[in-house]
Amino acid sequence: MKDINVLNRAWWKEGVIYQIYPRSFKDTTGNGIGDLQGIIQKLDYIASLGVTMVWLNPIYESPNDDNGYDISDYRAIMSEFGTMEDFSELLEGLHERNIKFIMDVVVNHSSDEHEWFKQSRSSRDNPYRDYYHWWPAEKGKPNHRWSFFDENSDAWKYDAQTNAYYLHYFSQKQPDLNWENPKVRQEVYNIMKFWADKGVDGFRLDAFQFVSKDIEFPPFPEGYDDNIPSVIKYHGMGPHIHHYLREMYNEVLSKYDVFAVSEGAGSTLDDAHSIVDEDRNELQMVYHFEGTDLVSSLDKCTLKDFKASFTKWETSFENKGWISMYLSNHDQSRVVNRFGSDNPKFKDYSAKMLNTFILSMRGTPYAYYGDELGMTNIGFTEIEQYKDIAAINGYKKAASDGENLNQYLKKLNLLSRDNGRTPMQWDASNHAGFSKETPWLPVHENHTTVNVANQEVDQNSVLHHFKKMVALRKDNLVFVYGKYKIIQKEHPTVYAYSRTLDKQKMIILLNFSETVSSINLLNLVQCKEVLINNYDHLTIEKNTATLQPYQAVILKF
Ligand code: GLC
Repeated sequence: MKDINVLNRAWWKEGVIYQIYPRSFKDTTGNGIGDLQGIIQKLDYIASLGVTMVWLNPIYESPNDDNGYDISDYRAIMSEFGTMEDFSELLEGLHERNIKFIMDVVVNHSSDEHEWFKQSRSSRDNPYRDYYHWWPAEKGKPNHRWSFFDENSDAWKYDAQTNAYYLHYFSQKQPDLNWENPKVRQEVYNIMKFWADKGVDGFRLDAFQFVSKDIEFPPFPEGYDDNIPSVIKYHGMGPHIHHYLREMYNEVLSKYDVFAVSEGAGSTLDDAHSIVDEDRNELQMVYHFEGTDLVSSLDKCTLKDFKASFTKWETSFENKGWISMYLSNHDQSRVVNRFGSDNPKFKDYSAKMLNTFILSMRGTPYAYYGDELGMTNIGFTEIEQYKDIAAINGYKKAASDGENLNQYLKKLNLLSRDNGRTPMQWDASNHAGFSKETPWLPVHENHTTVNVANQEVDQNSVLHHFKKMVALRKDNLVFVYGKYKIIQKEHPTVYAYSRTLDKQKMIILLNFSETVSSINLLNLVQCKEVLINNYDHLTIEKNTATLQPYQAVILKF
């Protein structure tokens, strides 16, 4: 068993990240869009959660084709969000409260309105031409490449100005940067240094699996299909990714007390280890998609698959490397709808149960704004209600492919990203205290009951449970570094596991179902204390614990 003195401790392993979608947190200017001053106003609230890091989705200047993931100036703040002075005030306010700040870095692509791209597209011999991937049209049409947000899923866009195609794995307004070009990489490192010099504490590298790719763009092998694992395999994780990451480590990360986490790069166990194991000197953390991908259709995932996936990742990073622990973010719908239940009878219990889960596993936990309240899907039914390019263009594609559009709308209703982007629910007033004017996305009608003001005064609220879990994790390193062991992995409704460090042992019991479920544990009578319980009672008879629907308990031994 591990001894606490030999642990490779780090602040970014022991912290809890709170992710804020700035557009939806708090609007102070009355334009219906959240802003940096809004986050500043809520700093005491954020600190009251006990979280130690804040990650903001991109706040750079952007035409907002993909809500800030299309950047037109990496050294400026989006005017809708505020100014560089606001940014400095926010950073200072966070640091005063001992909260670190993580910057989203979107450098697989820029906006087509970035000066680099404007130059690049202007002529074939422009010095910026090689900042992007161009395919001269006289060579014929380039081989198929898949695009996430294009309505034809075609990643090549013809540009008449120079009679050439450019590559965009995401929308047409998000051209891919050419990482083979050392000048591009230097630009990126300089941008990161610019923000590190301002005092940011970490970076989240967006869509980083795609920076290294085969730029000969050969045809795909027979049988290739546009499913996500193949997309990643054939469009990204190219031969130079480790070279780029090490270069970034040497040029930037090793020079500051910062950490970096990549999205996508590291989405298989082997890839992840090859990036985050300490002797690699690349990144400190990755996050994989396996957990969230368990719900990517209308079918609910089975608890068996859920346990298998999290156990695999948890165990693999026991001795080396580090991962993130999350079930939701801005690319997902609300966690309660996917892994719990939004039935009013179970909603709060399941929200608390899911928060107990992410805060008692090893990897650094990410809490997405609103999940501390148990916010739920807005559940749009008409395509006109959506704002997200992924939903809108996905629908157009489904229509042109002749797919069943009712079925597609049902899928969006459960899974679309807009579900997870509705305004933060501060109170029961009009617009939920988010804004004085009509918000850019409607607030959920349940804001009259599900809101911060209500939950702050209710000791039984999802919010109080969340704070209790954060405090418990911070006070007990066993949740961070302790050995994880699954218990009765075949149990159909209960996810049970232990965490052990030195003499400390915790057993976590989570009922993932709407039915009362029992589990028999040999040493239950030796339990010293019930540290967490989302019900006011727990039935233990001899060695059997009987859990109510979505009951979550942490037992100390
Ligand atoms: C990442 C982001 C997502 C964005 C995409 C393109 O997956 O998380 O929100 O749309 O990259 O930048």
